[in-house]
Amino acid sequence: MAPDPASHVIVHPNVLYVGTPAFLVGSVNPNGTPNLAAASSSWALGSMLCLGIEADGQTALNIAARPGITVNYPSAPLWPALVRLSRLTGRDPVPDAKADRYTYEPDKFGAARLTPQDSELVDAPRVAECLLQFEAIVRRMTPGLSGEYFMVEAEVVRAHADPSIVRPGTDEIEPGAWHPLVYAFRHFFDRGVEVGWLPSSRMAPHPPVID
Ligand SMILES: Cc1cc2nc3c(=O)[nH]c(=O)nc-3n(C[C@H](O)[C@H](O)[C@H](O)COP(=O)(O)O)c2cc1C
Repeated sequence: MAPDPASHVIVHPNVLYVGTPAFLVGSVNPNGTPNLAAASSSWALGSMLCLGIEADGQTALNIAARPGITVNYPSAPLWPALVRLSRLTGRDPVPDAKADRYTYEPDKFGAARLTPQDSELVDAPRVAECLLQFEAIVRRMTPGLSGEYFMVEAEVVRAHADPSIVRPGTDEIEPGAWHPLVYAFRHFFDRGVEVGWLPSSRMAPHPPVID
């Protein structure tokens, strides 16, 4: 049957953040102190993460100089920490384009009320409160078409998980126990109820039952 042309309306959303996990990027400033940035633009394939990182932030400068970073995934109750970070930059002076909205903050962890935790393979600290944390090495930074962002390809070299989200007796994440903070159209959500799984799941009780 042909789609009903009246079934959708044309919209003009001012952002295209359709709902992706929010995360916190840990990096190292030139003076050796840690920086922390809220972000949500990413995808993963195999051990590679591709992050969308704004070109005028301190994080982009830090990554270009020191490729060891952490990518930390807050669960839903941590959403206020992202609000606390949302108008702060580790860059001094604040770039002109951000001057009306952002303030320089050298202690992002303190401002966010989060705790730095030493990493094992990179200099950048992890975020202790995040139940899922990746240590990663940036392998390539590609300027985006607009010049306003980089596509940052980072190889995850170590993953850390709080035992509460690990299936006992395995070293795998228990999908039902993990509640990433979802960022959609500038609002934060917990993830919803489970509706299904793939045949390739190693955690499912049986293959998916579909028509
Ligand atoms: C929920 C949320 C999502 C964000 N997503 C991104 C993102 O995907 N990439 C990015 O570069 N900045 C993102 N930002 C904005 C950065 O946090 C902001 O540019 C900040 O200045 C970066 O800090 P820095 O200058 O110390 O690196 C996001 C901010 C919030 C609050």
